Amino acid sequence: CAIAAVMVGRRVRSRRRWLRVVRVLDEFEETASTPVGRLRQVVDAMAVEMHAGLASEGGSKLKMLLTFVDNLPDGSENGTYYALHIGGTNFRLLRIQLGGQRSILGHDVERKPIPQHLMTSTSEELFDFIALSLKEFIERNGNKNNQVRGKDLGFTFSFPVKQTSLSSGTLIKWTKGFAIQDMVEKDVVECLQKALSRIGIDMNVAALVNDSVGTLALGHFYDKDTVAAVVIGTGTNACYLERADAVIKCQGLLTASGGMVINMEWGNFWSSHLPRTSYDIDLDAESQNPNDQGFEKMISGMYLGDIVRRVIHKMSLESDIFGPVSSKLSARFVLSTPSMAAMHEDDTPNLSEVAKILEDSLDIYNVPLKVRKLVVKICDVVTRRAARLAAAGIVGILKKIGRDGTAGITSGRVKSGKSGKMRRTVVAIEGGLYTSYTIFREYLNEAVGEILGEEIAPFVILKVMEDGSGIGSAMLAASNSSQGQSQSQ
Ligand code: GLC
Repeated sequence: CAIAAVMVGRRVRSRRRWLRVVRVLDEFEETASTPVGRLRQVVDAMAVEMHAGLASEGGSKLKMLLTFVDNLPDGSENGTYYALHIGGTNFRLLRIQLGGQRSILGHDVERKPIPQHLMTSTSEELFDFIALSLKEFIERNGNKNNQVRGKDLGFTFSFPVKQTSLSSGTLIKWTKGFAIQDMVEKDVVECLQKALSRIGIDMNVAALVNDSVGTLALGHFYDKDTVAAVVIGTGTNACYLERADAVIKCQGLLTASGGMVINMEWGNFWSSHLPRTSYDIDLDAESQNPNDQGFEKMISGMYLGDIVRRVIHKMSLESDIFGPVSSKLSARFVLSTPSMAAMHEDDTPNLSEVAKILEDSLDIYNVPLKVRKLVVKICDVVTRRAARLAAAGIVGILKKIGRDGTAGITSGRVKSGKSGKMRRTVVAIEGGLYTSYTIFREYLNEAVGEILGEEIAPFVILKVMEDGSGIGSAMLAASNSSQGQSQSQ
């Protein structure tokens, strides 16, 4: 009888512990929820902020930066071009051969992880690494320095830059964990050009491009209906084609095409409608850039794993279902987003991948299946919110440019803008979260459809542009080549 009482007592305590954890999960899920009504509020807020950012400098947290790209590649470009891309966990080097008529005859891409210490070193060290890597890449491709003399180079630099022309601009601030103080407000192209001459490479940086702009360029190369591009990788951002006369803060902005690509820097978007949880608040407060990049911190690859880690930490403080509190749980970024995605997409019957990652990343051992399922659920809440918010951002852009169909539906014909039918609208997307994380992609696509409704959604096509940020930048170098459009091989 005494033994039975002890057993019952144990069961009651274990049930209570489980209920405490379920309460943490429920509260998180509730605060992070993104019903379509809330997403529509985010859509509206995005469109309003876009207007404000275009109206005056500092008018919004959205910087709405000029890119000086007024002509997107149209497929006629030809010749061999190089591009460099820095901005996330990897540094990329590219060489493409364009053959006119929308054809890419060949392309080589090389990825190199950026040594961690360079992200917080000096501008000279970072750019020497870039220049040296380019030299080695050129040589590996069988060329000598003199064979690339005078060739045009596209430079994708995925940070906020105040551009003064297509091939010059100063760094506004760092994002995504980079922090090289002497670089802020310096001309990025000048830094690269100096490093190239230090190393003896005589190439000309013909285009300085944000990764979202590169993605738009590649999207447009293939499909002229591409009007916007989104990157969802280590960080997140979007750009789109705007009418020059809508850029009120630059009165009299004249471009040959009457338009200009605007780099929104949407990672810094903020609105009271965003479903912010206590975990987001803590993540922000402990980050290198508090009160900055709020949208990015809810959406992008640098942060999602860390939100999951924070929720697990809270649960393990509330109860012992994860065993003794692991010290790893209080260390930032120990759970990467790729690991989190692998747990989320674990399709083994007993979730053995989840168990392995909990062990390897967080020093949490031997948790029962029920607890592993709970971890998958946390990943789901975090990813679903991220994907749906990105979807709302995309529809926000469409709304701003009159391509969301809200101008009305008359006699069965969906209208867009002031007149005419809703036009086919393509949004180019790149970045690992969308290209490699299936559940994320599905949630995002689903939410775009939900917000737009079934009548409008078929007009909006989201297209993956693998390596778009780099290839597109080489294409922009091509279409703005100092040697015209026919560089020799
Ligand atoms: C960060 C950068 C932005 C970039 C984005 C995606 O938000 O500030 O320039 O486009 O990450 O890489």
